[in-house]
Amino acid sequence: MAIAPPSLHKYLYAKYPCVSHDFRFRHSLRFSCRPFRFTARASSTVSLETDLSIQKNQTEETDLFSCPVCYEPLIRKGPPGLNLAAIYRSGFKCKQCDKSYSSKDTYLDLTVTAGLRDYTEVKPAGTELFRSPFVSFVYERGWRQNFNRRGFPGPDEEFRMAQEYFKPVEGGILVDVSCGSGLFSRKFVKSGTYSGVIALDFSENMLRQCNDFIEQDASILASNIALVRADVSRLPFSSGSVDAVHAGAALHCWPSPLNAVAEISRILRSGGVFVGSTFLRYTSSTPRIIRPFRERILQNYSYLTEEEIEALCTSCGLTNYTRNIQQSFIMFSAQKP
Ligand SMILES: C[S@@+](CC[C@H](N)C(=O)[O-])C[C@H]1O[C@@H](n2cnc3c(N)ncnc32)[C@H](O)[C@@H]1O
Repeated sequence: MAIAPPSLHKYLYAKYPCVSHDFRFRHSLRFSCRPFRFTARASSTVSLETDLSIQKNQTEETDLFSCPVCYEPLIRKGPPGLNLAAIYRSGFKCKQCDKSYSSKDTYLDLTVTAGLRDYTEVKPAGTELFRSPFVSFVYERGWRQNFNRRGFPGPDEEFRMAQEYFKPVEGGILVDVSCGSGLFSRKFVKSGTYSGVIALDFSENMLRQCNDFIEQDASILASNIALVRADVSRLPFSSGSVDAVHAGAALHCWPSPLNAVAEISRILRSGGVFVGSTFLRYTSSTPRIIRPFRERILQNYSYLTEEEIEALCTSCGLTNYTRNIQQSFIMFSAQKP
């Protein structure tokens, strides 16, 4: 006899104690928690004791994380929950590809190269630079503050602006793509606005920094946050499964912004919101005579124009494009129809 899964409320309350009391989130949790499937089986002689032991060592099936090769939902074995401890103790497997994924150090490695020994791939400079332990260490300790000189308003204001754009998806699952050392992931978690935050980056060292910062704050450590290593052009989520994607100061670092935005569009559910920020290649005040030089000088990074960013979003099927520009800084938002 199959034991019925715990009631949705009981399950959600255990996973999201801070939000399940809040009426504001009840509606949105309908979709935000949809990715989780829960199965537990036992023989017909069921006592309360067996029930509890199953809940302790449960085999959970979840389709929040998917295989980066075939995008089929991964089968998870281990304790349930979207938090560092539970994910660290869980193993993930793709039945289609017969590939296993697990946590390395402090993050869950969901890159296609996870577990590969005899293959090394060097990514373009915008990706490789941030894999360095040194750059990862100094990033939040001075490096990012320099962005202000090019018009970035600073993390507090950028966070406030992003939260405005994310209003339609409050209570949902947010993926902070290219999170770096987690500057914004931590703010999203602390805001209590989302039922879960996935801090995702390609850089192993950025994710280690991210973990170090999280460990310094007990309230974040106890929250629904996951650290995932993945490539923005192979996001480990099923199509239409995510409510919100944030990508701060990242688009210019991606090997192909077009593939990345297409991927983000794929994982967003209908009504889901994408918010990104980056440096513009030039603005309307940049003298025409120096624009071609900026294109040549900056060719290690994909600095785009405002028009190109809008075209990128539109060609990837995103609508309601809107943006905020200040010198070279642009924050834009687009929605999955
Ligand atoms: C300038 S940092 C931005 C960090 C943070 N979001 C912020 O707002 O400060 C750019 C990040 O993009 C990440 N990145 C570069 N290429 C990537 C890729 N192919 N997939 C995922 N992340 C990538 C880097 O590792 C780095 O952490």
